[in-house]
Amino acid sequence: MTLEEKVGKTLAELGVTDAQGVESLFAEVRAAMEAERQPLVSQGVPEGDREKTCKALRDRWLARKGGLISLVDENWLKRSPKELKPVVGRHFNELRQFSSRMELERLLKDVPAQQRRAVEDDAGQHWQDAVPIDLRPDLTLPGYRRPLGSIHPVTRVMREIEDIFLGLGFSIETGPEVETVSYNFDKLNIPETHPARDDWDTLYVDEQTVLRTHTSPVQIRAMEKRGAPLYIIMPGKCYRHDNPDSTHSPMFHQIEGLAVDTDITFADLKGTLDFFAKKFFGEKVRTRFSPSFFPFTEPSGEVSISCVFCDAKGCRVCKESGWIEVMGCGMVHPEVLHHGGIDPEKYSGWAFGLGIDRYAMLKYDINDIQLFFQSDVRFLEQF
Ligand code: DAH
Repeated sequence: MTLEEKVGKTLAELGVTDAQGVESLFAEVRAAMEAERQPLVSQGVPEGDREKTCKALRDRWLARKGGLISLVDENWLKRSPKELKPVVGRHFNELRQFSSRMELERLLKDVPAQQRRAVEDDAGQHWQDAVPIDLRPDLTLPGYRRPLGSIHPVTRVMREIEDIFLGLGFSIETGPEVETVSYNFDKLNIPETHPARDDWDTLYVDEQTVLRTHTSPVQIRAMEKRGAPLYIIMPGKCYRHDNPDSTHSPMFHQIEGLAVDTDITFADLKGTLDFFAKKFFGEKVRTRFSPSFFPFTEPSGEVSISCVFCDAKGCRVCKESGWIEVMGCGMVHPEVLHHGGIDPEKYSGWAFGLGIDRYAMLKYDINDIQLFFQSDVRFLEQF
């Protein structure tokens, strides 16, 4: 029997004699109504046909004369046996409320897509509520999804370097970025008259205070605080009077390393840094130590690695040399130990300093350091 045929008969003619029968009959009607309404809500109907479809549905269901609902009223409610009237009445009211949803087209016109989905999603679930459907929040909808951030490449590389040294038994020390001239220069054996000071002479807050130009001052602070033996790395931000370009930034990052103990030799330095380079850049990498100068180390050296881009054959990155310079290092100058309150007669040490940003550039093949500090999500979300 079709729905039209059913609503044309009385309950008695349909053989419905109890509350349960009434309930399932109305449930059937609601289900049919919902099914017909669904394509409209879920946009199954092309935009051009919506008006027509909606009108047809409305006529079929809601027409005063001959509409399915009014036939239900006519044949089921009005002509129901006395004892079933209350229950039929209740179901009929609910059905009428439910059917107010047939006005959807009017509502949908002004409802933005987000709410339209709400209407669609909760269809039929809370239909008893008398609140107009376009105003009712749908608590079953998923919440807003905020995009998740990612770890900044510089932080990522910093942690990676830290992990390698933590694995070797080093611990992490930090120091202030606004530093005294004494720690930043003097105690590191860079007196005011020393030409090397020019390289770092920069960004004064006042006469005795600078934005630190390297992480080396933390060496002194840590020696003072902890004494020997000492195995530490010191990551952090540094500042220099550099104009920004693809390889320079007035703010950048360094990691400093320091080992102080009895009988520390250059062999310890070489062994540790070679191990580190292989862990970070890959086992195939070779290291090369060449003489250099830093006021706080004696002897001083520079470490280069065999070019990771061309396997030391020579390329754009290594400027055809096959080698890339990756850090400064050396045996801690006795004066520096002394300034840190450690007896240079009893202890010796090695130290190194490297630029984290540069490591991140090498690791991820990034050719402009500025990208790290521009906060461009298109760049950052790649990590
Ligand atoms: N402080 C140096 C710089 O900023 C880097 C450095 C070189 C640190 C040698 C050291 C070292 O500890 O031994 O360029």
